[in-house]
Amino acid sequence: MSERIFIGVAWPYANGPLHLGHIAGAYLPPDIFARYHRAKGNVVLMVSGSDQHGTPITIRAEQEGKTPAEITSTYHEQFLESWQKLGISFDLFTTTGTANHAKVAQDFFRVLLKRGYIYKATVEQPFCPECRRYLPDRYVEGICPHCSYTDARGDQCDQCGQPLSPAELITARCGICGATPEFKDSEHFFLKLTAFESQLLAWVRKQSHWRPNVLNFTLRYLEGGLKDRAITRDIDWGVPLSIDGYPEKRLYVWFEAVIGYLSASKEWAKSSGDAEKWRQFWQGDVKSYYFIGKDNIPFHTIIWPAMLLGYGGLNLPYDVPANEYLTIEGRKLSSSRNLAVWLPDYLSRYNPDPLRYLLSVNMPETGDTDFSWREFLRRNNDELVATYGNLVHRVLTFVYRNFDGCVPKYSKYNEIHKYLDNLNEDLSTTNILDTRSMNAIEDAKMLFREMGSCLSRCQFKQAIMAAMLVAHDTNRYLDEKSPWKAVKEDRQAAADALYVALYIISCLKTVLYPFLPFSSQKVHEYLGFEGRVENYGWQPMAPKPKQKLLPPEPLFAKLDEKLVAEETNRLS
Ligand code: MF3
Ligand code: ZN
Repeated sequence: MSERIFIGVAWPYANGPLHLGHIAGAYLPPDIFARYHRAKGNVVLMVSGSDQHGTPITIRAEQEGKTPAEITSTYHEQFLESWQKLGISFDLFTTTGTANHAKVAQDFFRVLLKRGYIYKATVEQPFCPECRRYLPDRYVEGICPHCSYTDARGDQCDQCGQPLSPAELITARCGICGATPEFKDSEHFFLKLTAFESQLLAWVRKQSHWRPNVLNFTLRYLEGGLKDRAITRDIDWGVPLSIDGYPEKRLYVWFEAVIGYLSASKEWAKSSGDAEKWRQFWQGDVKSYYFIGKDNIPFHTIIWPAMLLGYGGLNLPYDVPANEYLTIEGRKLSSSRNLAVWLPDYLSRYNPDPLRYLLSVNMPETGDTDFSWREFLRRNNDELVATYGNLVHRVLTFVYRNFDGCVPKYSKYNEIHKYLDNLNEDLSTTNILDTRSMNAIEDAKMLFREMGSCLSRCQFKQAIMAAMLVAHDTNRYLDEKSPWKAVKEDRQAAADALYVALYIISCLKTVLYPFLPFSSQKVHEYLGFEGRVENYGWQPMAPKPKQKLLPPEPLFAKLDEKLVAEETNRLS
């Protein structure tokens, strides 16, 4: 029976290009996950969009002398192009600037207000006497009351990850001029997080399948006690309130951005022709996954669940597999200091799969990992090219040239094709096959279970390593069988070994499809299969003897050593 899977992906601020930290943290993992589930025949909805509001956008607009709308539309277009080139397969990537989003966010606000989970209160707003303006949260800096980090911002501490409000900062200063802000009374709407504290605690304690970093962070946060939070601001760039009397106020960016998961699902449903279809992914038997970087954890494990509980009738997250950070050449990534590898830049010079490969084997799942150009070169040349690419290329070219461009006739095919095509068929008690070939085939078949179980638990690194191990072992199998020599003395023996290799390659292109979709599609076609690789399911697929092959080309290109110096020089 097929499962329904909702995949929400963090909404990137449309205020600058994406870098590899974003990709490793929040965008590649959900794509691998979605491709796996779709191949398996599950029903997936994967949505996200550009986060158009908030001070990151207005700061950028001020810096560049443009309007916030100009900034966000430029980067939104760029994001769409990047997703396409890198193969990030959203069902919908929209923006928080749509009329639909405003409507859904306003409805959320109205319902929570009616139920008493939003209330009005007076709050102290930071006002800079030098700049003569109210300061957005991010413009206030100071010492974090939780971890004493000296450069915490008024919305969140970058060191310990705690969300903050400006008044909580110790010795606050204006982020623009450094003056000490005054706190003036202003009326705002508050989300009553305190009402959900015990419910959330009970719920989180049951999530034993969450990654330890996510679970522990969330528990510590909850055990520290929740505070109600202001969810409106006195600004003009944002979603207006849905009630009369507050024309100058906007919904706080975080409150409305997380609602994007729901509004995007509704937009997707409408454009699919069935406006109610979003319910299939928000109600009943669905698993909802939220892929984010670790700085977004509390918003997805506490605030969004609280909002969902208050609204009622919508599913809570099933899992929030937040990733840790990617460092660059051993240093903390910094977009302002240009210590980042920009995705559009990467895609203008290299193919998508080598990056997808490196970030998969090196994914910051349980701790920070490092990206370096040397490692990129090494993984590409020694693993993609020398192990997997070489396996595919030497087998395909040799077979293509020596067997009339067709899959060779396998002498055991009639006896074992059921075993080859079916995951559950067992041959272990017979001796139709030599043990070496039998083990090689078993290992390849096993990948579907082994990797499937890792992938469904969001353990991407472990999954791809298993496939690479089989690729490595298949090269050894070929070295032992040496069909290149055998072909002269015993053509059938050569054909048999090559058939086994082709079979394993066919398995590999399917299990590697979530990670390396572009190369998997190529291998699929070289092997003579038609259509899209993902339409054949998460199962082995034996090539038919005499199946016509396509002339193969090398899958991956060896990269030149000198790129390391060139690329490292581009970094500041
Ligand atoms: N744009 C914000 C960030 O990148 C929030 C992303 S997740 C959202 O940190 F769901 F809240 F939008
Ligand atoms: Zn802190």
